[in-house]
Amino acid sequence: MSFRVQPSPVARPNRCQLFGPGSRPAIFEKMAASAADVINLDLEDSVAPDDKTEARKNVIAAIGDIDWGRKHLSVRINGLDTPYWVRDVVDLLENASDRLDQIMIPKVGCAADVYAVDAVVSAVEASKGRGKRIGLEVIIETAAGIAHVEEIAASSPRLQAMSLGAADFAASMGMQTTGIGGTQENYYMHHAGQKYWADPWHWAQAAIVAACRTHGVLPVDGPFGDFSDDAGFRAQALRSATLGMVGKWAIHPKQVALANEIFTPSEAAVAEAREILAAMDEAKRTGQGAAVYKGRLVDLASIRQAEVIVRQAEMILA
Ligand code: COA
Ligand code: MG
Repeated sequence: MSFRVQPSPVARPNRCQLFGPGSRPAIFEKMAASAADVINLDLEDSVAPDDKTEARKNVIAAIGDIDWGRKHLSVRINGLDTPYWVRDVVDLLENASDRLDQIMIPKVGCAADVYAVDAVVSAVEASKGRGKRIGLEVIIETAAGIAHVEEIAASSPRLQAMSLGAADFAASMGMQTTGIGGTQENYYMHHAGQKYWADPWHWAQAAIVAACRTHGVLPVDGPFGDFSDDAGFRAQALRSATLGMVGKWAIHPKQVALANEIFTPSEAAVAEAREILAAMDEAKRTGQGAAVYKGRLVDLASIRQAEVIVRQAEMILA
């Protein structure tokens, strides 16, 4: 129990974050034309070391030149363990237009990582007199990141979103898999001659959701690598949505529609939530805290559950 009111995250849709390598400017227009809520132009792991400088230039030019519509525009910088990240931040903030909304910091391991980027961002923002305050988002994708997830979620008032990066996370944890997210062949329970697959990402996801919800940050599921497997993507995304995540990355344009569909509350879900709210209104009117809806208990907590769905749907429509 706490007397503190849980802070609300920023009220913008974040159902799908579409990634594209900064070294591949030919796809930038296609990214802008997509139905993703967030665009992540990448300077990190989809860009080869020899292309880092060129990618940075491409991205800075594209931020100003391309019509990104209403999309939330984010650039993934290189990690703090590389020689690139400071120049990424400084060049972006000195030279990119005010259309830039956010910087994504990969492989965050502790709150001080975010503090360091925040300090550079704040200094360059002030020296250039930039009009728009840049937001930050982070990727939890190391053992240190998940071990320190709560302090990271609390690290900066600029922090808007936190994603789970399954591939680097698996590598850092020493997990025996080369799959990027989703069902893992060897992670199963065995009972009465049958295999029942379980979810190796569950704990990390739940930890991220709890840290994010405590500190008013959007929890996001990261990449699903096998873009030929729509059913696998769907299953992963449905689990994430059920756990409280608000969206998922697309590493190929065909994943955008899937993510948007799954992270938009369905008409049926919204209708049911409204019916629950109506049933509780009626209960309250007659002085009751609990009531029966379709043969099941609804009470004051049901109002809060239903409001999550209704609020999310209304925010997406707004
Ligand atoms: N965003 C927008 N459009 C994209 C795209 C993206 N990320 N990736 C590919 N496309 C376009 C292609 O240009 C092609 O367009 P066309 O039909 O006009 O020719 C169409 O989508 C189909 O592309 P396809 O041929 O299936 O893929 P590809 O071989 O060109 O690229 C990847 C596949 C995975 C290499 C590419 O999608 C990619 O780089 N994804 C992002 C990787 C990334 O950023 N990783 C970092 C985060 S994990
Ligand atoms: Mg990564």
